[in-house]
Amino acid sequence: MGLTITEKILSRALVSGNLVKGSRIGIKADQTLTHDLNGIMSYLVLEAIGLDSKKVELAVQYIDHNMIQADHKNADDHNFILDMTSKLGIITARSGSGICHALHLEHFAAPGKVLIGGDSHTVAAGGIGSFAVGVGGFDNAMAIAGQPFYFTMPKIVRVNLTGRLQPFVSAKNIILELLRIVGVKGGVGKIFEYGGDGVKTLSISERSTIANMGAETGATTSVFPSDENTRLWLKAFDREKDYIPLDADPDAEYDDVIEIHLDELEPLIALPSQPDNVVKVKEVEGVKLDQVMIGSCTNASLQDILSVANILDGEIVSKDVELGVYPSTKTVLRESFRRGALDKLLEAGARIFEPICGGCNGCGFAPPTDGVSLRTTPRNFKGRSGTKTDKVYLCAPETAAASAITGVITDPRRLNKKPLDFKIPDKFIIDKSIFIIPEKDPKKKVRKGPNIKPIPEFAEMEDVTRGKVILKLGNDVTTDLICPAGALYLPIRSNIPEMSKHSFKLVDETFYERAKAFGKSIIVAGHNYGQGSSREQAAIIPRYLGITVIMAKSFARLHLANLVNWGILPLIFTNDEDYNSVDRDDLLSVETMNLKAGEPVKVVNLSKGKTMYLSTPLFQEDLDAIKKGGFVNVLKDKFKNKGEN
Ligand code: F3S
Repeated sequence: MGLTITEKILSRALVSGNLVKGSRIGIKADQTLTHDLNGIMSYLVLEAIGLDSKKVELAVQYIDHNMIQADHKNADDHNFILDMTSKLGIITARSGSGICHALHLEHFAAPGKVLIGGDSHTVAAGGIGSFAVGVGGFDNAMAIAGQPFYFTMPKIVRVNLTGRLQPFVSAKNIILELLRIVGVKGGVGKIFEYGGDGVKTLSISERSTIANMGAETGATTSVFPSDENTRLWLKAFDREKDYIPLDADPDAEYDDVIEIHLDELEPLIALPSQPDNVVKVKEVEGVKLDQVMIGSCTNASLQDILSVANILDGEIVSKDVELGVYPSTKTVLRESFRRGALDKLLEAGARIFEPICGGCNGCGFAPPTDGVSLRTTPRNFKGRSGTKTDKVYLCAPETAAASAITGVITDPRRLNKKPLDFKIPDKFIIDKSIFIIPEKDPKKKVRKGPNIKPIPEFAEMEDVTRGKVILKLGNDVTTDLICPAGALYLPIRSNIPEMSKHSFKLVDETFYERAKAFGKSIIVAGHNYGQGSSREQAAIIPRYLGITVIMAKSFARLHLANLVNWGILPLIFTNDEDYNSVDRDDLLSVETMNLKAGEPVKVVNLSKGKTMYLSTPLFQEDLDAIKKGGFVNVLKDKFKNKGEN
């Protein structure tokens, strides 16, 4: 039997287990990617275990998320990162050089390589044929320390792309279509592997847009073949040596196949406030807008910016709309400038920002109260923009540009513009100022600002966990709801005691005070708990506030791993009746004495006199780690005992 692309890459990287679907496997990373927000936690972990140099072939650090230097906090974080990366031998992009995934795609991502990155959109590198997985800061730290990354071998689903996209229907519409088909939980436990004759019509940045937003389906990752377009991309960045051809064997077997006919796609849009709320743009045309944002790691490539400039050329943005543009990297910014695209954007009335995440994670460009914002970003979760009452729609750059002109949601085909004829340049500008290469004799003293607090110490799990239900939540609780994004909160992410005061604020203003008063408590939730961003503070903070058990109908993959790392036991309801029977403030007792993989866990609702049995979605290694207070404690012991660095 032939092999899929995934199987070809993983059989080389495998260090533990067998490539059997549903089993626990460990793989060795070739590359790691870290950004400033999760990076602080990663380096605090590496500091705690005493690592003195990176143990992975290539480690790259980016500074793109937390960029509003309103006081010393962000700047202190950046200094800490610079000193730690210098000490550990990690290449660092200067702050503001570009969004991590876009910069990595330009300069380091390569077909056939395994990339472990401390951000859920690390999967964007699947566009170039990397096997790229997003993880939390702890798993990212472990990959930097040369430890295997363990996960459940997913099913592999082929997404067959046939035909060619029509003018003004760009790649974002392909992933919106996939989200429409499978939904935000439809990729859980799966890898999407792309193929079909439509693939060759897509550039690497277009493929990366699709792979990037595969994260929104809950998939472990997405991967594209490596072909002539891949070679041309690498050549344009002076990296042709990184090229290898890579494709599935013709007789490779998949667990499922999804067909998408590119010719039939129309401009699509995700309605507030979930990325799978997808309809055709023409169904919601005329919705009045307050702002339009073009940017993010999903959709701010050179091709995207030129396409937007092509539509805005000679036009003026509606007086009722504010248009903000964040090019994805400094190279995109400079290439756009050289081609006159920035001038067209400025002439039309756009605000041009530096190449960072910016408005995508609420770090600038927040909409007004109740504001309607149309964005090319991958996520539209409530409040992520920085405004609690936002109404964020997601679309392709062409729809965003057309709508900025008219002031209302508009199908870009209506404007009768000539489509952009884009070919990637033979050579992109090679910008030697972007990366700081670690010195041979690095600085020994690490600057650590007063806002950077040590990672909390967590005790072993008790044999019986008793606590009140502090929150009873519904489906799709995002990490943005647990630990808010936005300019007010990002600067305190490296200070767990301070940040914990704001957790769950968007769902319950009283959460922090009650958690402190309860001492120990339990969270109950519906499906897909922990959806979205990789931020592990969404696990550390509840643990810090005394929550050691979370009971849900299901968990998002990345957050589940974060819970295990930081010592929270995730339990799954086996029926709706049990979920329905639990109310806020019920006192529960959970038997955590003898946790065994595949065996039910007894939970007694002492307030209602009802006994339930919940399951654990974990392997024995995970349960053993939780008993010890999380993998963070296991690894601390391992490095302390063996001096393993
Ligand atoms: Fe940054 Fe938004 Fe991407 S926060 S990494 S641009 S999803």
